[in-house]
Amino acid sequence: MPASNDFHSGINQGVAPVTYGQGDRPPRGDYSRAAADYTCEQDWASYTAEDHALYRRLHERQSAQLPGLACAEFIEAVSQLGEPDRIPRFDQLSRRLHRATGWEVVAVPGLIPEEAFFKLLADRRFPVTGWLRRPEEFDYVVEPDVFHDLFGHVPLLFNPVFADYMQAYGAGGLKASRLEACEYLARLYWYTVEFGLIATPAGLRAYGAGILSSAGELRHSVLSPEPQRLGFDLERIMRTRYKIDTYQASYFVIDSFDQLFEATAPDFTPIYRRVGDAGVLEADSHLPGDRRY
Ligand SMILES: [Fe+2]
Repeated sequence: MPASNDFHSGINQGVAPVTYGQGDRPPRGDYSRAAADYTCEQDWASYTAEDHALYRRLHERQSAQLPGLACAEFIEAVSQLGEPDRIPRFDQLSRRLHRATGWEVVAVPGLIPEEAFFKLLADRRFPVTGWLRRPEEFDYVVEPDVFHDLFGHVPLLFNPVFADYMQAYGAGGLKASRLEACEYLARLYWYTVEFGLIATPAGLRAYGAGILSSAGELRHSVLSPEPQRLGFDLERIMRTRYKIDTYQASYFVIDSFDQLFEATAPDFTPIYRRVGDAGVLEADSHLPGDRRY
């Protein structure tokens, strides 16, 4: 059941993977058990009955909102996460996911450095935070927790085209690190993987994890008259700043996952140069060439 005040509170749960090491406080999580690639054991036995109950409540609230707001591919795959009444075991989930698209989920302590993140994606391993938010963080958690990472991100990894996009993103990220273009790629991640909308015959639907794991932004992104919704444009996205502490001022709409995959297939090197020359845009900026929904 959605918390009634959350719709208006203007907060979201999408957190850029690049914030590791850039904040004014250490990332949340126990990094002492992590390997050099930042992965660790899930330690499923350490979850308490209260943790599982909280996960169940989060799962229930979000699942109830999906019809008419989430894309069909996401809705169909949510059941693949496992029983909704407890935090999934990553090893069991990985077996199902691997059969579907060759991906697996791996546990990490929390936010990880961008290069480590890109490397895992390029290897078709999706890093999922081990810890779950506290009950008082039911409506909002500052960093992504196991619920955001699992419920928001993993269902679409069962979709073959989106799964390939995520791997290509990781490979592109490793290259962008060398070209010092990670900022542009972070915006692409933000406006697609975290806050993307997709046009369907039934209307606009959400596929971004930051939207789909947020109690309030799911309705806001699809239904509110406030934000602008613009047709997917790779270079426009790479130029556009985003909001980390409010709902998005702009959402970008893809026509299909194939479009997303194909638009991001070319070599980004000349694109980064053009984007750098064209300059940064504010999150709510309007351009004459924008295709509006
Ligand atoms: Fe995320």
